[in-house]
Amino acid sequence: MPSAVRRIGVLTSGGDAPGMNAAIRAVVRTAAFLGIETVGVQRGYVGLIANEISPLSPHDVNGLVDRGGTVLYTARSTEFMTESGVQRAADNCRYLGIDGIIGIGGDGTFRGLKELSHHGVAVIGIPATIDNDIACTSYSIGFDTACNTAIESIDRLRDTMRSHERCSVVEVMGHRAGYMALQCGIASGATAILIPEKEIDFQRDIVDMIREGRIRGRTHFTIIVAEGAASATDIADRIKEATGMETRVTILGHVQRGGRPLVYDRVMASNMGYQAVQIMAAGGTNRIICYDGVKCFDMDVDEALAMEKHIDEGIYAMMDALEQSI
Ligand code: F6P
Repeated sequence: MPSAVRRIGVLTSGGDAPGMNAAIRAVVRTAAFLGIETVGVQRGYVGLIANEISPLSPHDVNGLVDRGGTVLYTARSTEFMTESGVQRAADNCRYLGIDGIIGIGGDGTFRGLKELSHHGVAVIGIPATIDNDIACTSYSIGFDTACNTAIESIDRLRDTMRSHERCSVVEVMGHRAGYMALQCGIASGATAILIPEKEIDFQRDIVDMIREGRIRGRTHFTIIVAEGAASATDIADRIKEATGMETRVTILGHVQRGGRPLVYDRVMASNMGYQAVQIMAAGGTNRIICYDGVKCFDMDVDEALAMEKHIDEGIYAMMDALEQSI
């Protein structure tokens, strides 16, 4: 049976993430496959309010599967946080015959979708943020590519730290979450990883680890600091003072958000985009596409936003075993 949904809008909102373009492409192509038109909304909710909306054909999304950033641009809208802003956005949808909006982004994007749905617009969310901090899903588009980008730099830093017998303190992104820091720390064999979710004992977890490592013959060290945990510069100064080791600080910053999406993000984005349109075409609304480590599933937006994400404490035992046995 043909879908009652005739036209959908797609937007990206919040911080960009590698793979967003692949998700846009999957949405447009799947919709066309099902006989549904797609329009692209520029600059997220800013464009939905300002009517910066234009048709997107399957041809328009050619060559997007491997392109970093988002061709729809992205923004954080303060006007959309007001009742009148949401009303204007919903009125625009009605005026343009847009039956539903697929929003690609993080929790802020999903909160926006929830408001829009209260004004009668069907909504589906696709998780995309390098922070991987969305509670309802084990994976958010962009995380793997961003971690790999960071690791490439951290590996390079290790070469020069080894030559100079220094301690490298690297700050990675993550807003208020430590998932990127943990992933990069484990993948680079870091001596310590500082994340906002876990208190550390500076003396025991950093100073003693470096001191004992040196006694065992280690000459260089890597400390990963999540941006939401502490200032890398402060940590480096404290390490120098406590151990006498020369330290160097690197703040990776926005370089982590750019670049071509890796295979994992391209595949995940393709699948999530496909699932989002399938659900919307079948009359679904107020849902977020999630991933449980094996397959995609969908969840109610309110339920998803009420969830909390917790780090797996078990990985600390693993890190201790790998770090302290040499
Ligand atoms: O949410 C993604 C993210 O890159 C965070 O890790 C970071 O704190 C924030 O966005 C930076 O935002 P902006 O690009 O506005 O500086």
